[in-house]
Amino acid sequence: MEHQWNAKHYDDKLSYVSDLGRSVVSLLRPQPGENILDLGCGTGDLTNEIAAGGAFVVGIDLSESMIKQAREKYPNLMFSVGNGEAFQVDNQVDAVFSNAALHWMRHPSKVIERVWHALLPGGRFVAEFGGKGNVETVRGALELALDNLGINVSQDQRNPWYFPSIGEYASLLEQQGFRTTYAAYFDRPTEMPDGDRGLERWIAGFAQSYLKGLDSSTRAHVVQRATELSRPSLYKDGKWFVDYKRLRIVAVKS
Ligand code: BEZ
Repeated sequence: MEHQWNAKHYDDKLSYVSDLGRSVVSLLRPQPGENILDLGCGTGDLTNEIAAGGAFVVGIDLSESMIKQAREKYPNLMFSVGNGEAFQVDNQVDAVFSNAALHWMRHPSKVIERVWHALLPGGRFVAEFGGKGNVETVRGALELALDNLGINVSQDQRNPWYFPSIGEYASLLEQQGFRTTYAAYFDRPTEMPDGDRGLERWIAGFAQSYLKGLDSSTRAHVVQRATELSRPSLYKDGKWFVDYKRLRIVAVKS
């Protein structure tokens, strides 16, 4: 099931995604006059950040609602609806940037192949996304809550994410011809806004596919049970910290 994004909820409640992505822009080091593609740009906050340094940036995202909101927020920037597994560019770019988006694309080889074709020779691919074991506690809790209701998650493919290890992703990059010049994998427990309701909001924003086909009271039950199961590991001093694990890569088309 393709994730349905709510751009307003994303900006109001999930703005930490872009806030935390600012350090990935530092890794990109955009130069004035460079042409850069922001793959999975959401509502455009980091596209704007990249453009602020004088680069020409185009943001693409699969979600029409995100692109509509990005255009309203940043009318001077270029955005278009596009699929990371199938996009094409008219003119090759100096860099492809991506923050917190690649884990939504279930066919990584296709994405890597598209990125390769979008880059000029010598161009760089700079990305951060969820790595192996990302959000494992929440994912496990949702799956257990569903399993307790007799819903077998492994059979009905509710998990919408791709979270590779460094080894797996670097191999895919190399198969395409990229030279991986940097790779890092690290824990980043991420504080949720909204105090006690933080995890519930995270599930509403990102994990709806686990709730597909359930009536509203069963949904509420699953969310409450998953929250209870996660609490001992992720709730401290009135705040939720989701167990994010990040993968960062820089790869060069040589
Ligand atoms: C992430 O940024 O790692 C992420 C966000 C939402 C769902 C899954 C992963």
